[in-house]
Amino acid sequence: MVSNRLPVDRVTAHDGTPSWKPSPGGLVTALEPVMRSNDGVWVGWTGTADDPQGPFEADGMRLHPVPLSADEIELYYEGFSNDTIWPLYHDVIAQPAYSRTTWESYVEVNRRFAEASALAAAEGATVWVQDYQLQLVPRMLRERRPDLVIGFFNHIPFPAYGLFSQLPWRRQIVEGLLGADLIGFQRRADAGNFLRAVRRLFHVQTPHGRVELPAAGDGKWPNSMSDQPRTVIARHFPISIDASAYTALVEQEAVRARAAQIRHDLGNPSTIMLGVDRLDYTKGIGHRFSAYAELLKEGKLDVDDTVLVQVASPSRERVETYRALRDEIELTVGRVNGEFGTIRHSAISYLHHGYPREEMVALFLAADIMLVTALRDGMNLVAKEYVATRADDDGVLVLSEFAGAADELKQALLVNPHDIEGLKRAMLAAVHMSRAERRARMRALRKKVLTHDVERWSRDFLGALAAARPTPSAVAAAEVE
Ligand code: G6P
Repeated sequence: MVSNRLPVDRVTAHDGTPSWKPSPGGLVTALEPVMRSNDGVWVGWTGTADDPQGPFEADGMRLHPVPLSADEIELYYEGFSNDTIWPLYHDVIAQPAYSRTTWESYVEVNRRFAEASALAAAEGATVWVQDYQLQLVPRMLRERRPDLVIGFFNHIPFPAYGLFSQLPWRRQIVEGLLGADLIGFQRRADAGNFLRAVRRLFHVQTPHGRVELPAAGDGKWPNSMSDQPRTVIARHFPISIDASAYTALVEQEAVRARAAQIRHDLGNPSTIMLGVDRLDYTKGIGHRFSAYAELLKEGKLDVDDTVLVQVASPSRERVETYRALRDEIELTVGRVNGEFGTIRHSAISYLHHGYPREEMVALFLAADIMLVTALRDGMNLVAKEYVATRADDDGVLVLSEFAGAADELKQALLVNPHDIEGLKRAMLAAVHMSRAERRARMRALRKKVLTHDVERWSRDFLGALAAARPTPSAVAAAEVE
């Protein structure tokens, strides 16, 4: 497994004592159970500059750190990954920066990840590269290790060619990805956008999601990066969560007691709405607040019996767009609370923290309505976590049609978060929904999430990868049969 972040981040206490904590974001949440059930090595960054940490074990996983310097964090991670690719791939919600300096650092760091992976991988191993920070790794790795089976999964959206074509390095990115045998995307539309980029840039056909590459050296471009022609497959594989871990937590008495305590501490309102997001401009937190504030203003909701709890976990705080977003969101919270709050009740309970999973499950259980109003989101695993938690078949999920999860969670109340009136209508519909309808919808949602869990996702991906590029041992076994 190769990803920008390892599943744990280094933390250093005030007295200098080091320890490890789970990394932020949906990617590691999804991949960790996959790695626990496979005997493999995880190559990635520890989240700290110039960390001299060598290979180590954490929670039974073998981790191989790739060090990043302070400059590389600024240029490769905060710069090209999070100030260019992230906004570009999320439909330019924020303006991407196109900088040659950050691009050079991206190339250099991708090279180091490829080298570290080439060193860590056994002969004929399967290497699974993750996400937008490492799009050049598949090709760089294939050039070093043609024996490897290489998969790539893009956790975020892949934009339409009209946007992608803005990228000055669009060819290099596509060539980098084509180093893989199988390229996975969240939604069918993402895979379609990628395949269109291949067709537009290289004037080749892509029937049934297959890109047929000619052998290197015959002058055609893109070439297969090996002396044989090669096929690359691009397809969608919607990612999921370790659903059974959530259902197990719900059964714990302490977690249920904590949910009741949360309701009590919030003053036992009749409606608790909940938002849980990294503090990111793609998540539509401001749109959610606007709709809620208007409902309070119009008297359609009342702070005496409604509260919106917003957990906004800190993210990418040194990137200017994220700083500006934090200021904007916190200003809005202050305004809404100032205008509509009372001595007894706040309109919005805003928490700028990350919480352990037990606390999140208790919050999900306590929440009558879950608001996922992303303007663009690869999948949104929080939506699936909420559903997995609601073993009581209760609770209403309001879900943006721009989140990948909307392709699967069709019984949610689907919204266009840009349409504030529509969002208000959906919020009110959720507040007033009958128990029978809540149960029917949640049951259908649960069926989907519990049967399509992350274990199935990784099985599907790895099965398709094995079929796309049979390893020498699989070929030999097939010949014997
Ligand atoms: C999203 C991305 C991940 C990323 C995570 C947290 O889930 O798809 O690749 O790791 O956000 O963001 P961060 O920049 O803190 O790693």
